[in-house]
Amino acid sequence: MTVAGNNPARLVVVLSGRGRNLEAIMAAIDDGRLQARIALVISDKPQARGLRMAREAGLPWAVLEAAGYSERAAYDDALATRIAGEQPDWVVLAGFMRILGSAFVKRFAGRLVNIHPSLLPRYKGLHTHERVLANNDTRHGASVHFVTDTLDAGPVIRQGSIAVQPDDTADSLASRLMVRVEQRLYPAALADLISARVAWQNGEVWREGAPQEGPLHEDYDFQTPR
Ligand code: GRF
Repeated sequence: MTVAGNNPARLVVVLSGRGRNLEAIMAAIDDGRLQARIALVISDKPQARGLRMAREAGLPWAVLEAAGYSERAAYDDALATRIAGEQPDWVVLAGFMRILGSAFVKRFAGRLVNIHPSLLPRYKGLHTHERVLANNDTRHGASVHFVTDTLDAGPVIRQGSIAVQPDDTADSLASRLMVRVEQRLYPAALADLISARVAWQNGEVWREGAPQEGPLHEDYDFQTPR
């Protein structure tokens, strides 16, 4: 899992949609912030913009649609086999809109990570921006976490947050969160993992050789977009 010598870490990126996190990861690799290479971008949606982006960048890509599988476990198994074939150091969920079952999660335990658009443990699941507004929260954020078999409940590696503005809509909040937080946070969390500053130890996040007391949380209000 840790990068030996100068070998770049092998990432498999799994997505269903727009691929703005993939874009940020690609940029971080290109400018040397991430010692990694993308071994595969795989999507369950052939039309995903993220997949098009991968193709245009000349990255290896694949589509695995769920339609051909009658059961979720069979799809998960096919997906896991395809991913494992790439011998990834890290399996990076970046807007993958399917829930992965426990067999998949176990197979990649400790090297399976996700980004979720909320300050976990608040707002697991969907419609996080709407829920932040409905509750009049003053801050909103995103979390990168290890994936366990409970949805959005795995240990958090890093979080970033921004202030909610009085005139925010769910759309404005979602876009600002993406540009200001998510696109910075995911590369930063992957850099933590690849450099082995952060590690998964029996279901806990360890940072610099000691258990991390809660997620590393940064305020992204005053940081310029990447
Ligand atoms: C992001 O908001 C991410 O937090 C969530 O899905 C969205 C994916 O966006 N898991 P993109 O495909 O990276 O543009």
